[in-house]
Amino acid sequence: CNFLVEKDRRTICDVLCNGLQRLEYRGYDSAGIGIDGDGKDEIVLFKEVGKVAGLRKLVNSSSINMSKTFVSQVSIAHTRWATHGPPSPINCHPLRSDPKHAFIVVHNGIVTNAGELRLVLQKRGYKFESETDTEAVAILLKYAYDSQQGKSVTFTALVKAVLKELEGSFAFVIKSTHYPNEIVTARRGSPLLIGVKTQKKLKVDFVDVENPGLDETKADPLSPVALNSTTAGGLLAVPNAATNAKLLRSQSRAFMSEDGMPQPIEFFIASDASAVIEHTKRVLYLEDDDIAHIADGELHIHRLRKNEDGHPITAGQAAATRSIETLELELAEIMKGNFDHFMQKEIYEQPESVVNTMRGRVNFDNHQVTLGGLRNYLPIIRRGRRIVFSGCGTSYHSCIATRAIFEELTEIPVSVELASDFLDRKTPIFRDDICVFLSQSGETADTILAMRYCLERGALCLGVVNTVGSTISRETHCGVHINAGPEIGVASTKAYTSQFIALLMIALVLSEDRISLTERRNQIIDGLHALPAQLTKVLAGDNALQQLATGTLASSRSLLILGRGLQYATCLEGALKIKEISYMHSEGILAGELKHGPLALIDENMPVIIIMTRDSLYPKVQSAFAQITARKAQPIVICNEDDEGIPKDVRTIRVPKTVDCLQGLLNIVPLQLLSYHLAINNGFDVDFPRNLAKSVTTE
Ligand code: G6P
Repeated sequence: CNFLVEKDRRTICDVLCNGLQRLEYRGYDSAGIGIDGDGKDEIVLFKEVGKVAGLRKLVNSSSINMSKTFVSQVSIAHTRWATHGPPSPINCHPLRSDPKHAFIVVHNGIVTNAGELRLVLQKRGYKFESETDTEAVAILLKYAYDSQQGKSVTFTALVKAVLKELEGSFAFVIKSTHYPNEIVTARRGSPLLIGVKTQKKLKVDFVDVENPGLDETKADPLSPVALNSTTAGGLLAVPNAATNAKLLRSQSRAFMSEDGMPQPIEFFIASDASAVIEHTKRVLYLEDDDIAHIADGELHIHRLRKNEDGHPITAGQAAATRSIETLELELAEIMKGNFDHFMQKEIYEQPESVVNTMRGRVNFDNHQVTLGGLRNYLPIIRRGRRIVFSGCGTSYHSCIATRAIFEELTEIPVSVELASDFLDRKTPIFRDDICVFLSQSGETADTILAMRYCLERGALCLGVVNTVGSTISRETHCGVHINAGPEIGVASTKAYTSQFIALLMIALVLSEDRISLTERRNQIIDGLHALPAQLTKVLAGDNALQQLATGTLASSRSLLILGRGLQYATCLEGALKIKEISYMHSEGILAGELKHGPLALIDENMPVIIIMTRDSLYPKVQSAFAQITARKAQPIVICNEDDEGIPKDVRTIRVPKTVDCLQGLLNIVPLQLLSYHLAINNGFDVDFPRNLAKSVTTE
């Protein structure tokens, strides 16, 4: 949105498309924008299946007048990862309430009662054109507006009434022909932030938190719409004013220049800071149940609900959690630079990103580790009865990778949980449990739900996340940012190595008082010191991995990755990389389990990689090697660079040797590179693998 800042339509469309391109990693099966038309109450939509580049082409080739200028305007855009309804122009966002675009909506998340809402609205004569849950919201807005029968109602009040009918998780941005130059955005469960760009100094002003005597129906002439969709026939009832008289009517008025005069100002609403960073570094993160309304260059934040404890949010609380923050993110960090793909860049960044994870935390001279984010909680963590690690995908694998060393150093039992399964089982959680949530994005719905489950049960919750300001980083009691820098490639690479190190650092801090472990701790810290140079050395082997991908493995349909002990996680993570981007079937197999089933898969045609770096389990892995070669497999062996024990005719991928519990940090890199080359070799889009999204904000 811009106010008193003249822009032509071409610039507006470019800003939207550029922003979408930065967010494309979150979903990229279709994209759309909604902008002001030529007439006063006209909205124009452009939608295209596929990536944002296609949408840009569509806009540029349209007959719309791109030179038309606007002094104030609001526009919205979205890039989609389909949940309800396949990718198609109709299902693509923005979704509209009607052909005249009374309301257009973009939405992240899922409205779980959309089906019921749809039925009720259809019975009232409203027509649906898409299969999406979002359309029900657009139409419900129209219904709420229509039912006012011409009485004036504020945009915020309207949205507030509609949001109360919704179940599920969402972040919405809504534009309407009834409210030109106004925009409303709201969140519950999905991330949302507002970037603010202005020349003048701003002050954040949270006032009018609650007016207990307020009669909502007088102040906001909308009779709140209650949609009773469980009753047969689905009734839309209007509760009497008394029920709503005490509704929280909260924070209002937010930004103005110090002299109180209107000023040129632009707002950028987005689900992720990467979309706004090229315009402004000043952002405000919205909280769940916030409704932000922007009009006339002013931002007002309202609350949908009271606090958990039933009390209204106070001005102090609001100001504390919704201050404008200055992002430290640099534009260059979210650009590809000289690399062909983000994933490739991120793999190559690892010698640097692991240093950033350790910077200011690991002192290599005195072998001390300090984690400011945990300082006040260390006594509680040390007293914990058990530690539960939880995450999804790659984040889950980083938990498996560090579990053994965590238990060894802390002597506290650690269980590792897939966040979704953890919730499905309703695992018992107690007040003396320490729950650690791993997430690159900090926004994965399954992990957030698992976190909230543990918070409700009184456990101490730690977040280990990459994205500053994300839901997990804000809602956990304490935690560690992994500081790997923005990760854009859908297949997680540098976040894995940084999460691994972050967990290790936590274990090192927790064990700092254990004299008996001094030597072991020092050995690990020395190993961490040597790690960046060793990672660089592994990356230097890239050509050999490319040859493997274009040669031996080029036509393979499947690839097994075998290992055990500390390398089991490497097998799982390597197989996940291969599946994710090269679409080749791949399985990480615990070598100890080979004889209990997977051995049946082995013959001369089954490609196998076996991880045989030297550690205490080496003899056992040697025996797995013997078992598969006896069945004519021709494994590719990941081993240490100086290992003479591997038969000469066996193809090897050699990596430097490090401390056993750090070896996985080096061993994973060839598998990351291999998956990258396999995907390239097949002509697949590495950064945007089919059917996947980087940040899965739906359950
Ligand atoms: C998605 C991504 C994976 C990622 C997982 C967890 O499935 O495609 O690459 O590992 O989410 O994401 P998180 O942001 O919580 O680490």
